[in-house]
Amino acid sequence: MRRAMAEAEVGDDVFGDDPTVQALEASVATAFGHEAALFCPSGTMANQIALQLLVPPGGELLAGADAHVVTYEMGAAAAIGGVSTRTWPSVGAALDPDQIAAMIRPAGFPSVPTSAIAVEQTHNLGGGAVVDLGVLRALKAAAGLPLHCDGARIWHAHVADGVPLAEYGRLFDTLSVCLSKGLGAPVGSLVIGSASRMAQARVIRKRMGGGMRQVGILAAAGAYALQHHVTRLADDHARARRLAEALAGFGVVDLSAVRTNVVLLDLTGTELDARALAAAAAGRDVLLAPMLPHLARLITHLDVDDAGVDRAIEVLSDLLKT
Ligand SMILES: Cc1ncc(COP(=O)(O)O)c(C=O)c1O
Repeated sequence: MRRAMAEAEVGDDVFGDDPTVQALEASVATAFGHEAALFCPSGTMANQIALQLLVPPGGELLAGADAHVVTYEMGAAAAIGGVSTRTWPSVGAALDPDQIAAMIRPAGFPSVPTSAIAVEQTHNLGGGAVVDLGVLRALKAAAGLPLHCDGARIWHAHVADGVPLAEYGRLFDTLSVCLSKGLGAPVGSLVIGSASRMAQARVIRKRMGGGMRQVGILAAAGAYALQHHVTRLADDHARARRLAEALAGFGVVDLSAVRTNVVLLDLTGTELDARALAAAAAGRDVLLAPMLPHLARLITHLDVDDAGVDRAIEVLSDLLKT
């Protein structure tokens, strides 16, 4: 990946003149069956550009209460896009299309009209759970509104369920995807959609300070990740499964939720809280993320090998039994 970055041909991407970025955007758009894509510095920016495309200031977005766009983007939808959000209860990936459709408020005065719906695939706080394709189809049919997919980890859903990326592309008006995280690029995300929406996305990206110059070096890392690191995600999924099964005896893991590369430890009913567990584990070289006071997240990725999983099992077993 570092070699690909060093050898990348570059140009000024603010003017759309970087050939490596152009090639990446074209190949990702094609993979999802859309007309265009735009390279962005982060998943948050890609999501927020999409929300601004689909929801006018003062309009409303429906999303899950635990959605990344609602919970972990520092209020950007409201603070930057003027987007108000209304949420359905935290159900992770277990969406109820009829319940969501029933929340839609039509255009009219004085209630805030619903402009779009956002879905996360895979679902981060749902423990990497995959939203079922049939559920997504039912949601599209029931909603009749533009749908956005926060697909930071959509590659994992693609590998876990074998659903073609273009099938997801057909269901969503806009998607965001990340090349960092499980795919292992140092940075980079894309927002995907129609050519006219992506032309507008370029304006919004510049407005938010996301225009980048000779950024082909980063696009080259992303292209390398897409070429070499997608099918191997199955290894991460198998390692997450092994980790989850080894820790299930402590009563902190819902094995049925472990489908991809995320293992959530629900510490309710134990004496531990997530921060304390993370600090104790970090002291023994095992890194986990405290997501909520009672919820810690373990992620497998290309820098975690079998020995790393063994080590995590050993250390966490020790900490959980005390
Ligand atoms: C589901 C989801 N969406 C979006 C993002 C945002 O990505 P970034 O950290 O690149 O802004 C993340 C980050 O972890 C995520 O988990």
